[in-house]
Order: sequence, then C-alpha cells, then structure tokens
Amino acid sequence: MASGISILQDIQKEFRYISKEAIEYVSKKTGIPQAQLYGIATFYKQFRLSPAGEHIIKVCHGTACHVAGAENISEVLGALLEVPPEGGTTSDLMFTLETVACLGCCSLAPVIMIDDEVYGKLTRSKLEKIIASYRDGGKKVVDVFGNFDFIKEDLGPKEIERVIVGLGSCGIASGARAVFDIFHAARDRFGLSYSTEGTGCLGMCHREPLVDFICKDGTRYSYGDIDQAAAKVLLKEHLGRGKLLSKNLIRIDVEASPEREFFEKQKRIVLRNCGKIDPESLEDYEGVGGYEALKKVLSSMAPDEVIEEIKKSGLRGRGGAGFSTGLKWSFARKAIGDEKYLVCNADEGDPGAFMDRSILESDPHCVLEGMIIAAYAIGAGKGYIYCRAEYPLALKRLGIAIEQARSRGYLGEKILGSGFDFDVSIKEGAGAFVCGEETALIASLEGRRGMPKIKPPFPASSGLCGMPTNINNVETFANVPWIITNDADKFAEFGTRESKGTKVFALAGDIKRGGLVEVPMGITLHDVVSKIGGGTVSGLPIKAVQLGGPSGGCIPENLMNTKVDYEELVATGAIMGSGGMVVMDERSCMVDIAKFFLGFTQSESCGKCTFCRIGTRRMLEILMRITEGEGVDGDLELLEELGERIKESSLCGLGQTAPNPVLTTIKYFRAEYEAHIKEGRCPAGKCRALISYHIDLEKCIGCGLCKKECPANCIEGELKGPHVIEDEKCTRCGACYSVCPVHAVTKK
Ligand SMILES: Cc1cc2nc3c(=O)[nH]c(=O)nc-3n(C[C@H](O)[C@H](O)[C@H](O)COP(=O)(O)O)c2cc1C
Ligand code: SF4
Ligand code: SF4
Ligand code: SF4
Repeated sequence: MASGISILQDIQKEFRYISKEAIEYVSKKTGIPQAQLYGIATFYKQFRLSPAGEHIIKVCHGTACHVAGAENISEVLGALLEVPPEGGTTSDLMFTLETVACLGCCSLAPVIMIDDEVYGKLTRSKLEKIIASYRDGGKKVVDVFGNFDFIKEDLGPKEIERVIVGLGSCGIASGARAVFDIFHAARDRFGLSYSTEGTGCLGMCHREPLVDFICKDGTRYSYGDIDQAAAKVLLKEHLGRGKLLSKNLIRIDVEASPEREFFEKQKRIVLRNCGKIDPESLEDYEGVGGYEALKKVLSSMAPDEVIEEIKKSGLRGRGGAGFSTGLKWSFARKAIGDEKYLVCNADEGDPGAFMDRSILESDPHCVLEGMIIAAYAIGAGKGYIYCRAEYPLALKRLGIAIEQARSRGYLGEKILGSGFDFDVSIKEGAGAFVCGEETALIASLEGRRGMPKIKPPFPASSGLCGMPTNINNVETFANVPWIITNDADKFAEFGTRESKGTKVFALAGDIKRGGLVEVPMGITLHDVVSKIGGGTVSGLPIKAVQLGGPSGGCIPENLMNTKVDYEELVATGAIMGSGGMVVMDERSCMVDIAKFFLGFTQSESCGKCTFCRIGTRRMLEILMRITEGEGVDGDLELLEELGERIKESSLCGLGQTAPNPVLTTIKYFRAEYEAHIKEGRCPAGKCRALISYHIDLEKCIGCGLCKKECPANCIEGELKGPHVIEDEKCTRCGACYSVCPVHAVTKK
C-alpha cells in the first residue's frame, strides 16, 4: 500500500528531511496534491521540514524521564551543542537536537537516543563524554584485554556452555552490547568453547546489563549490573575458576534468589519466553513450544471454536479499553466484505509505557503466532503491524521474525498445508500519539493524517479501505498462543470475576526494582509497587502511582490496596490503561505532573473537536499560571468544569480522557494545588518559578561537583574553596542539589 506517509518516510530516511523540492517532485509523480503532502508532513512529528544534522539526538520527555529531569538533559544538550533546548541543528550540521514523547526505556530515565543507539541514566558529565565521542568520530577499536591474566581450570559439569546477554533496548542502553563483545572476544582470544547468544528482556531493567551462564549440567547462573569491568571479573572468576560473584548474582532459581521478591508474585504468561530465548531465532521459539498453538488450531479447530475458546478465557483487550477479545473477533468474523484485515496496534504512544516494545523485542514470534490464529478465526487474509518508529530494535526483530515465519510456512499461502492464506507487513508510525486510536490508526495506514472518526461504523464492519478490520494490541495477541495451548479455563483461573488472566506493567519512576512485570489480575497495587518493585529508591514514602498514562490518573498512597482490575481502577478515577505504572515519592509535585500530562495531550490533540483542541489549551494555561505562583481563587472549579465538559464533548478517547490526570490530582491532592494558589508555594519543591537554590557556606567542602554538573554555568568557586550560585542565571534545574555529597545546597 504506497501512501503519502510511506513516500515521505522514505525521503526522510534518505535525506533526513523533507524539502520543498521533494514535495513538488512527489506531488508531480503521484498526483497527490502538494497541500495534502504538506498536511501529512506537518501532522506527524517525525517529519522535518528543514535540513538535519548527521546525527539525530532525541531527548525522551516521557513520564519517567520528566520525573528524572528530562528538562535538564535538554538544557545541557542545548548548551553543549549551542542550539535551543527545545531543538535545533548545529551550525556544522553535525547534530540535530529533538524532543520525543517517549523512547520506552523508562527504567533508565533520563534517556536519549542518538541515531538508533539509546543512552540511559544520564548526567551532564555522561552527556559531555557521549557528545565528545561522536565528535571524535565514534567508537574506537581498543584491545579490551591488554595483559589480562586468564587461567582456565577444568570445571567438569559446571563448565559454561552458553553465555547469554540481555540485548533488549534497556540492556543495550546500559552497555550490554560492549559486554556481549567482551565475552565474544574472550572466547576467541582464550580458546574457550561456550557459545555467545543474545536474548530479550527478562524484565529486570534495574539490574541491566544482565548476563546468564548455562552450564553443561543445565544449571543457570544469572548476573546483574555487569558493566565492562564486572564482565572481565566474571570471566576471570566464574568462567575461569568456577567461583560465583555473589555481589552480582541475581538467581540460580527463584527460591535461592536475592531478587526473589521480584519474581515471586509474578505470573508470566505473556513474558514467559522474554529474556530466555534468542528473539532472532525461530528454532529457539519452536524449542519452547512455539507455533504448537497454531498447529493445533489449523489441524483441529474450526474458526468459531477458536473464538469460543478466547471468549471463554475472558481475555480483554490490553490496549486500554479492555473490550472482550473473543466478542470483538466474533463481530469481525460475522462482518461481510471482499477482504478482511487484521491489525496489531504496536503504536505504544503512552509516555511511561514500554510493555509492547519489550514483548516485540524479546518474543516477536509469539505476537505473530497470536496474529495468525486471530486471522484464521476471523477470516482475514492480510495483516499489518503498526509499530512506532521510535522502536528500531522491535522493528528489526519483527522483520526478521516475519521472514523466518514465511520461510517455515507459518505465513503465506496454504499455511502448514491448510487452505488458509495469511501474510503480514510492518507499517512504521510517524510520531502521532492519536494514531494509537483505532480509526486514526486506520487513516494513518491508508497514508492520511491520523484523525479519528465517529464510531459507528466500527472497524469490525468498516475499517481499512472500508473493509472489516480487527485491531488488537500487542499484549492481547501475545496471550493467544498460551490460551490455545493451555486451555481457556486455566487462563480464567487467574484474576477477578471480570478481569481474567494477567497484566504486564512497565514499572518506572521512583522505584527500586523498575522494569517489566507481569502479574495476575486481582493483585493489589501495593503488592506490585512495594513487594515486586521494592518501594521507592529514595526510601521516602510513596506519594502516588500514575496509571494509564495521559488517559489515566494518579492514585494516592492510601488507595494502594486497590486491585488490578478494570472496574476497580476506573472507580478511583484512573484506568488500567495499557500498562504504564509510574511511581512517585514525596518529591513529586502533583500539579506539575498534571501539567505534564495535559501538556502532552494538548500538543497531541488532532484538532478536530473544539473542546479537545481549545479546552485543553485553556486548562493548560491555568495550570501554567498555578505552577508559576499566579493562580487565583476559582481556578480549581474552572479546571473541574472545563475537564468535565471536555470529557463529555470530545469525539475520541484522547479528548474524552485528557482531563483525567488533572481531575484525579485535584480530587486527591487539592491541598497541594491550594498551597500553590493561596501561598505561592510548591510543597514538593518542584515548580521552578516557586523555588530557589543556595549554598550553605558552612557546609560546603569545595568539591566542585555542583559546578561540574550545573548546565547554566552559574556556580562560582575554586576547588576546596566555598562555592556560590549566581541566582539570576540559575534555571532551577536542581542538579547541584542532587549531586552535593554533603547536602550543602539548600532549596527554598
Ligand atoms: C489516543 C489513543 C491512543 C491509543 N493508543 C493505543 C496504543 O498505543 N496501543 C494500543 O494497543 N491501543 C491504543 N489505543 C486503544 C485503541 O484504540 C484500541 O482500543 C486497541 O488497539 C484495541 O486493541 P485491544 O482490544 O487488544 O486492546 C489508543 C486509544 C486512544 C484513544
Ligand atoms: S477528541 Fe481530540 S484527538 Fe480526538 S478527534 Fe477530537 S480533537 Fe482529535
Ligand atoms: S545552580 Fe543548581 S539549580 Fe541552578 S542551574 Fe545550576 S545546577 Fe541547576
Ligand atoms: S557539591 Fe556541595 S560541597 Fe561540593 S562544591 Fe558544590 S556545594 Fe560545595
């Protein structure tokens, strides 16, 4: 399906921006009016209309990165590159700085992506080194071993046969590729016989890079926090001498694991293979029972029986709305059309969510198998995976999986010798959150601006090209093979009366064990956050948990006993959403969080409805005034009224839910709003206009760390001497406050 979007995407890939000449040329060649092409190029954030630098730097401004100081990262990069922090291209055309809604590596916040490489847990000094390495022409080849004295002892059955390194985006962003290279190089250098393999995400993003050793006798040793130095120690001690490195050992089995609590309360259905198989190997997937569900369906089940089984399981869509999957499939099956389409929604636009990215990067065949079964059930011949462009690794692994599935007869004509034909293509999103909404997604697939449409007609009767279309989320499809293989009743054993099975959450923010977790429905938020997640990193009490991204809400600490259940969560004013769960401790300002989410939805509104387009802008203006100490009496009532009107009068889910973060924070944290309005005070000390930083000269030891980290260069002082802040230049970023080892920096 050649479309305006894909042509512009190809041009941008080639030239890194869309020029006036390119638009004229495409218009002449395709007959698409220039105005329409400009309409597309300006609607999607991905397109650049002016020349771009050799390297594209994307600063993630997702929820977790916002909480971790993404604004500071933009400011530091702006200063280093001498471009505005919001974005721009350096005069030597070497770098283009951009902001992006979410890169989906929330547990490593703050995060940036340079070209396709992700860098996490950034500080000013790290950024300086990264930029310098690009200016120096990139990576240098160095002999990592030097005169490393490696002695190999005979370990018998405990000889290591396989070394497996987690190579999901979070792992790579933590330096896993370099760790993989060390083990790979060591094998050749020291004549060792193990194989080196990559795998996806085990979910423990907080311990990345992760390395597993599999012994001849099958014992598995998992290690965490393996940077390059630790990799060399592991090589010498464990691979060479068979000695365990207790500091980094995560688990041998769940019982003996120091990270036991992280796994104990989880139930892994969707994530069962993640971090265990090589996502680029079809044999690995088949080795764990992959494509057995498809074989069962094609050999022994009629399409209606498949639908009945999915209905019986109680599976509800994991993309947010929670509609019954079996029922949705039955509508699509009954719909009449010359063609039927199946779409996998992998847009994952919620800032703070990375479930779908991890699933696709770690177990792409599982999603494909779920899609093929769904296509058979509804009678679709063609499928699309609409995946956001910010997920290059997921896109790459999906492409590999599709090719492999075709070559083995799981996709294509007469699948596995049956009479069923089905094939899948990937469509890259172009950076518009609203395109996750199903009718907007269809418009985008058809190559147009992604504007939602009134429903009905629903996609099941009139979707892509006017044909019956079934759209499901990545996680929804990933559940399907397990249900077919293990039985619907077994799936329905997990969960509550109305919410069955499990749910994957991306646990991020102020959390000790951030990462990807899969829990049985019905578990309490307290168990997820405090038992699995281990509570806050800071040790400070939890203030709130944000669920459901920009459509969701903030649930306060006193409601942590709420169950993970669609209806119970809605009753709090939040929603289950697609699985983003951002934990905030006492240092987070709820007004600032509400402003962050509304700023996001406001900028992502497609503009079709007045209430969504203008109402959200008015709400944002009020919030901005409040966070600048200029709130007035009546602001909260106005916010509540506007919020309710926008919810009632918007056409699609974006506008219908956009006020939720504001309304829930007013409901649960009204006193905090009032402190901003009535006292001009931000109790959490977050709102920049309401705070200032000072250095207590009695305490300052002159270490110079604050000066080194300050992005505004406004700290004066000599090493070992007192340091002072130049208040007029200070941007209130808080970096000095965070780094001072003796707490000499104070905040008022
Ligand atoms: C603004 C907006 C964004 C959405 N983004 C996504 C998304 O990124 N992924 C997703 O699966 N569903 C998203 N949805 C929900 C989809 O419209 C649709 O309900 C879902 O893909 C259906 O799949 P499911 O039944 O398996 O959940 C979004 C909805 C709205 C209103
Ligand atoms: S609610 Fe907002 S995003 Fe949805 S159609 Fe209306 S203007 Fe567009
Ligand atoms: S003085 Fe501190 S708060 Fe101010 S800009 Fe520098 S690092 Fe940030
Ligand atoms: S980091 Fe703290 S101790 Fe060090 S120079 Fe700055 S204020 Fe002084």
